[in-house]
Amino acid sequence: MSERVLSGVQPTGRLHIGNYYGAIRQWAAGQESGAENFFCIVDLHALTVPTAPEALRESVLYTAAAYLACGIDPQKSVVFRQSPVAEHAELQWILGCMTPLGWLNRMTQFKEKTQRDKQLNCLGLYSYPVLMAADILLYHATRVPVGEDQKQHIELARDIALAVNGRVGQELFTIPEPAVAREAARVMSLRDGREKMSKSAPSDYSRINLTDSDDEIFFKIARAKTDSIPGLTYDPENRPEVANLIRIYAAASGVTPSQVEAEYEGAGASAFKHALTDRLVADVAPIRDGIRRLYDDGRAHLLAVLREGEGKAREVAGRTLREVKEAVGLWAE
Ligand code: TYM
Repeated sequence: MSERVLSGVQPTGRLHIGNYYGAIRQWAAGQESGAENFFCIVDLHALTVPTAPEALRESVLYTAAAYLACGIDPQKSVVFRQSPVAEHAELQWILGCMTPLGWLNRMTQFKEKTQRDKQLNCLGLYSYPVLMAADILLYHATRVPVGEDQKQHIELARDIALAVNGRVGQELFTIPEPAVAREAARVMSLRDGREKMSKSAPSDYSRINLTDSDDEIFFKIARAKTDSIPGLTYDPENRPEVANLIRIYAAASGVTPSQVEAEYEGAGASAFKHALTDRLVADVAPIRDGIRRLYDDGRAHLLAVLREGEGKAREVAGRTLREVKEAVGLWAE
């Protein structure tokens, strides 16, 4: 079978350069590889955090606009919403009945999220990775391009697939492989080099959003935390904030951190920050303009893209779910 790529973004908050360099840029580049591509907006996952209904609907459209503005081409990729393809939720139930609690108890993201916010203690958040496994396994995805924070969830999807295949005695599911970007696997906060850059962090100064203006990018990079050690050296252990900026520069320029270090070692922090700002503006400005254009004037187009994607997704998902139902002993209509 040819390569099948599936990935997704949870539509909560605005997307940032971590989402772009860590995930969506890889999706866009991979469209030329001849693989079949499925890019989902995982609105059911978004319900795991309290969100106002109107804000969630807007966030779905904004995320669709961001996909297209980042170079996802609906002629080459299936772009769709998760919730109308009911097979995701159905398969999640079946997989949930075959997933030991011990496997879910190992998930670090659940632990981190619930430790940070004690109100987030619903069953949906706990079973979140099982829904994610359903997203992946329904499409027989061979490759799942994601940031490092999602790798453990994909390993769980692999474990579930192997366990179910073993139990039903057939190759019901394809075993997916995670694909993680090199320098941008984990883009860190601009305020704290030990925290991940995140949509939900309270300070907007911790991230560069894909909708930031050139001035905002300039000010955020100017204010990005560094340290008092002179010169630019790549030392992730002792200089996490500087190392993060170097890796962001490397990701934006397609070079390695040691090449960045060699180029800017003698330069001051401010010269390096100016160069980094220029790189980021070059990438973010066209995406920002594309998002604005699509989001403000292209809503009908976005809805049409999502509807068309939904039809194509449902065909594949429906076929897989019928096979699964048959294999586990449910009547498959
Ligand atoms: P989400 O919405 O948190 O993030 C979307 C993608 O961006 C990556 N990412 C990052 N990469 C590098 N540095 C960062 N600071 C950073 N922050 C986020 C994420 O790894 C992800 O690839 N559970 C998923 C959505 C999902 C999914 C799926 C993904 C649901 N079903 C099936 C793949 C396949 C999530 O919440 O991603």
